Amino acid sequence: MPRRAKISIIGSGNIGGECARSIAMKELGDVVLLDIPIKDKPELHMPKGKALDLACCGPVEKFDSKLTGTFDYSDIKDSDVIIVTAGVPRKPGQSRDDLVSINAGIVKSVAQNIKQYAPNAIVIVVSNPLDAMVYVMWKVTGFPANRVLGQAGALDVARYKTFLAFELGVSVEDIQGLLLGGHGDDMVPLPRLTSVNGIPVSDLLSAEKIQACVDRAKVGGGEIVKLMGTSAWYAPSAGTVEMVESIIRDKKRVIASAAFCEKEYNVAAQNGGKGLFVGVPCVLGANGVEKILSFNMNETEQKSMNESISHVKDLIGATVKLFPELA
Ligand code: APR
Repeated sequence: MPRRAKISIIGSGNIGGECARSIAMKELGDVVLLDIPIKDKPELHMPKGKALDLACCGPVEKFDSKLTGTFDYSDIKDSDVIIVTAGVPRKPGQSRDDLVSINAGIVKSVAQNIKQYAPNAIVIVVSNPLDAMVYVMWKVTGFPANRVLGQAGALDVARYKTFLAFELGVSVEDIQGLLLGGHGDDMVPLPRLTSVNGIPVSDLLSAEKIQACVDRAKVGGGEIVKLMGTSAWYAPSAGTVEMVESIIRDKKRVIASAAFCEKEYNVAAQNGGKGLFVGVPCVLGANGVEKILSFNMNETEQKSMNESISHVKDLIGATVKLFPELA
């Protein structure tokens, strides 16, 4: 009898908790929520509390996924997929890059534990600054690149489609679009490849209106940080679970994800011959990143991609400066 899939979530805060809920609702597998004790409050056990609260949704939502909350890494043993949201979120006025000094150390320690306790897992990193944190995960675990990826594109694309649907007054389901590159300000917009059920979006909206949707997607995270005082969690979780579902169900969805690129999109050529994690269209299946889809970019798109690659390169440089052993 095949066993149920096991999905562990490291960092059971806002994004982690919402991922757990969504995974259970879709019955993608059993879920382990792992976190650390809260300083000065040793009597609390947040992951256990969240797991119990979520488990009690089962009878209403009609799922049998088993939910466990823990502080103990031995509970992630045999995980098929691990989502990493451990770290601090942004506060108003902060950029994702401002988080590097705290989150790089956290992700490094999480990666050491994943390597020890779940050496066969596929790891989806969500902690920011995303493109650098995926690099840290890959470097520390030493996992093959197909088993380490980052969630950014799924969210950025979802935001882009949402804003286009607002503008067009059509269902979000009928918008096809893609954004590549790094997470946030230096993402690579691709209005040329955006359509409404195959109708080029440029035939339906002015260039200015399309650009406004791209710009809003770029700063969509910041817009929410300003409103809530912390970063978003519903859409980031939705994007992450979209990736988990494609992997667990071996759906081979094409989802923009931060994946290790070398010759793809000319990445290594711009990074001293070395590969980098950057947002690209990936086929996600049972083996993680099964394929990176490449297409011919026009000059403007490749220029934007080059800027994005250069930003990711700088961010990794800043990370390595803090943790020279990650070079
Ligand atoms: N190990 C495990 N969990 C940790 C660790 C650690 N070393 N350090 C922090 N955490 C936990 C926190 O205790 C908290 O519960 O990570 C969780 C983060 O949750 P939130 O503070 O609610 O942050 P969230 O909004 O979920 O964002 C998490 O994802 O999108 C990114 O920028 C965002 O980096 C941030 C991350």
